[in-house]
Amino acid sequence: MKPSNYSRRKFIATTATGSAAVAVSASVPAFGNITPVRNESEKLAILGGTPVAPEKKWPEWPYVDERVVEEVVKTTRSGIWCRIQSPNGTVPTFEKEFAKLFGIKTSVSTGSGTQALNTVVEALGLGPGDEIITSPYTDPGTIQSILVSRALPVMADLDPESFQLDPDDVERKITKNTRALMPVHMMGQPCNLQRIMEIAKKHNLFVIEDSCQAIMAVYQGKKVGLIGDAGCFSFQTSKVFCCGEGGAIVSNNEELMDKCYTVMNHGTAKSGRTTTIGSKYRMNEFEGAVLLGQMPGLRERHETRNRNAKYLTEQLKDIPGFRPQKLYEGTTEGSYYIYAWAYKKEHWNNAPREKFLKALAAEGISLSPYIANGLHREPWTEHILTLPEYKTMFGAARLKKFKDELNLPVCDQVCQELAMLWASGPLTATTSDMDDLIKAVRKVYANRDKLASI
Ligand SMILES: Cc1ncc(COP(=O)(O)O)c(C=O)c1O
Repeated sequence: MKPSNYSRRKFIATTATGSAAVAVSASVPAFGNITPVRNESEKLAILGGTPVAPEKKWPEWPYVDERVVEEVVKTTRSGIWCRIQSPNGTVPTFEKEFAKLFGIKTSVSTGSGTQALNTVVEALGLGPGDEIITSPYTDPGTIQSILVSRALPVMADLDPESFQLDPDDVERKITKNTRALMPVHMMGQPCNLQRIMEIAKKHNLFVIEDSCQAIMAVYQGKKVGLIGDAGCFSFQTSKVFCCGEGGAIVSNNEELMDKCYTVMNHGTAKSGRTTTIGSKYRMNEFEGAVLLGQMPGLRERHETRNRNAKYLTEQLKDIPGFRPQKLYEGTTEGSYYIYAWAYKKEHWNNAPREKFLKALAAEGISLSPYIANGLHREPWTEHILTLPEYKTMFGAARLKKFKDELNLPVCDQVCQELAMLWASGPLTATTSDMDDLIKAVRKVYANRDKLASI
């Protein structure tokens, strides 16, 4: 029931003059066993109070140390700037080192995660007339890796708690032309791969794991990327392991890896013969140098992120309406490229997410809403409907169904509710830094009745 203006005014007046300014909405129960902190009942910084963490500085990202710099200098001086100049260059060396992380013989590196995904799409022989089911809640690179091969990206809706693909909707979207699934491990945490793999097996589909955000995440005892037919990673600057732009492919299937190498290398196989269609997607030696330089502390930073993520979850889990991303059973390590929550405004005096984010930023903690619109709401969907090749390949009835299915309400809801921390650098910080975030969220929660006035 909506309170009348009179009762709302009276309520605010009462709580503002009362002994505890911790306002508790009549319709929402107070949160349980959270230890009170000094700042909690103080005035919001946005209303003139003292910020929890003025001039907060998180560890800088991308990660740079002397070793990274030295590797780049070494490469510059060596004159080996392209991967085919030497089998011992940084890129071939990186491919072996990256493969070791997964316990496989070799990986294939590319110029980006998008290129890695497209390389696998091509290597699996997917293209015109084929449909690949994926998520609308992802980087445009996911969808583009399918479109550049002129296949059709079909989007399924999300699970509202994990923000990952909903396997039931994936299964509903399968048609006679579906050839592959491209699940995305959003925020760096494994999606529901158990169900996705079962569906793929039942319908005889390839699985290309978009693990671009999920390096070193572990699900049911296996590293993500190696559970489907192939997994693709991104080393774009914001990622937890990065070199500006870069990507890699892993797979247990060595024949497929060989094909991926050929596609990545403008269709030219290791034998030197040009055998197939493929763009030139090679990683360059400077990117390889940065990645080799960053490798030594990779595991340690990963463990710190996991430790801090666990701490945040523990400390904030009792705040109603600030629900951390659900992790699927079997997730023993996340990548934590992003730490995300669903902001449920009904627990925050119905204050819109933007007001919450504004108040939090004034306390010194910046969270982001992340993706504004699911990819089902971007103009590419209209664009492909106008293309003669899509009309020929898929036909009017299929394209009408594609258009009709661009209704993905859970994805829309997630876009409206998400609040996230870019975590690559911040989650490598100290426990005391985590405490700042926790205190700031608690303080804003305690003052949620004031959010309407900012
Ligand atoms: C989930 C996901 N898929 C694909 C990509 C594309 O990777 P890249 O930007 O390296 O091409 C990204 C990059 O942000 C991503 O986050």
